[in-house]
Amino acid sequence: MSETKMTAPPSTLKKIVEVPELFQDLIDKRGTKGRFVGAEEKDSPWVPFGENAAIKHLAFDVRQNIYSNILWMKGPGVVGTHKHRGYVVMMCLEGSVRYLEYPWVATPGSFIYEVPGEAHTLVTEHPDGVKLFGWMQGANEFYDENGKFVMTADVWWYMDHYESYCKEHNIPINEELYL
Ligand SMILES: [Fe+2]
Repeated sequence: MSETKMTAPPSTLKKIVEVPELFQDLIDKRGTKGRFVGAEEKDSPWVPFGENAAIKHLAFDVRQNIYSNILWMKGPGVVGTHKHRGYVVMMCLEGSVRYLEYPWVATPGSFIYEVPGEAHTLVTEHPDGVKLFGWMQGANEFYDENGKFVMTADVWWYMDHYESYCKEHNIPINEELYL
């Protein structure tokens, strides 16, 4: 089989095409499925995070300490200094956001990548705040305004944040969130 360098999708036919798979039996037996979380409150509610912010949880992976969500700050505000012990992949969806420590401002479509060991202070000065999609791995250490360690937030904190709110408001747990 010779390969051809692709410069555009090799097919634009609106049709499901059968493709070869050597290990279909193993995939069926040992594989897992992809997930879909809709945009409605019933799919995953906005869970308050302080007075001015909310988190919509999207995924929890307890094997790899991964959690994904959208952080919504509803107006100008700050998420105080925190230190990452894993990586963070984020995209600004609405509004704008920056860190006091860096020179840039993220606007809709901006991509952000953070690495273990970074500590920074998240600020939105946009009148409508920010909606920030994130896919995070590992723990986040949160500190108070005097630099005193408060707590470590990892996949279990995010899961508890989601489940406690659902329980309190009689919202069924969405199993699609659990990878
Ligand atoms: Fe961060």
